[in-house]
Amino acid sequence: MARDLIVIGNWKMYKTSREAADYIEQLLPKIEGNKARVFLAVPFTSIASAAACAKQAKLEIGAQNMNDARDGAFTGEIAALMLKEAGATFVLLGHSERRHIFGESEDLIHRKLARALQDDILPVLCVGETLEEHEAGNMKEVLKRQIESALADVPKEHAGDLILAYEPVWAIGTGKTATPKQAQEAHAFCRECLAEIYGKRKAGQISILYGGSVKPDNAKKLLSEKDIDGVLVGGASLDADTLADIIQHCEGIR
Ligand code: 13P
Repeated sequence: MARDLIVIGNWKMYKTSREAADYIEQLLPKIEGNKARVFLAVPFTSIASAAACAKQAKLEIGAQNMNDARDGAFTGEIAALMLKEAGATFVLLGHSERRHIFGESEDLIHRKLARALQDDILPVLCVGETLEEHEAGNMKEVLKRQIESALADVPKEHAGDLILAYEPVWAIGTGKTATPKQAQEAHAFCRECLAEIYGKRKAGQISILYGGSVKPDNAKKLLSEKDIDGVLVGGASLDADTLADIIQHCEGIR
């Protein structure tokens, strides 16, 4: 079975709800008929307006984070059920900015992932090694640990219910991209880790996206690799035309 090709724009802490609506209006005609699934991970306050604009289009709106509890006295936090009611269908979990700036532990990411599955919102699990870990030759060890810890004890009925994103921390916002060969090697390894947990067949169905300084001029080569099933785009997704250019590169792939 062919895996879904997926392009996710991660806006991070950019764009108000009005800006989100303008952006989507600009993006939609440009991606009509494209075979990639397009997702936008927008700020919480933009989810409802973005979802309203995306309605009936092939565009899914999601969040960039959530709490691991169903509800509770957690001032300033947001729950999966709230995101869903606002119109989110997916949530990014374990993004390196959450791990490294906000100190999210592997255990917390594991609990968030379990919550996302329980409350029926699709998790996009982000993993990746830092520059230090990369230079020390520890990429595989880090990826294995991050994947295994996040997916520990996932109930059988949810096996494979996720998108995985490999985002080497040294490539995020730095302009340095992993070469297609480096990225392919990391993706193939991630798939091996998934196969150990879920078996080869299930692992072969999970889309694994690459993120880290993806731009229109490097997207095509990355997307041509056999285990790269899409891209997770930060900075370059802030401009609708630029994201549309990247999505265009999914045509003719596979
Ligand atoms: P950049 O594309 O800006 O490097 O960001 C990548 C990222 O963090 C996407 O989640």
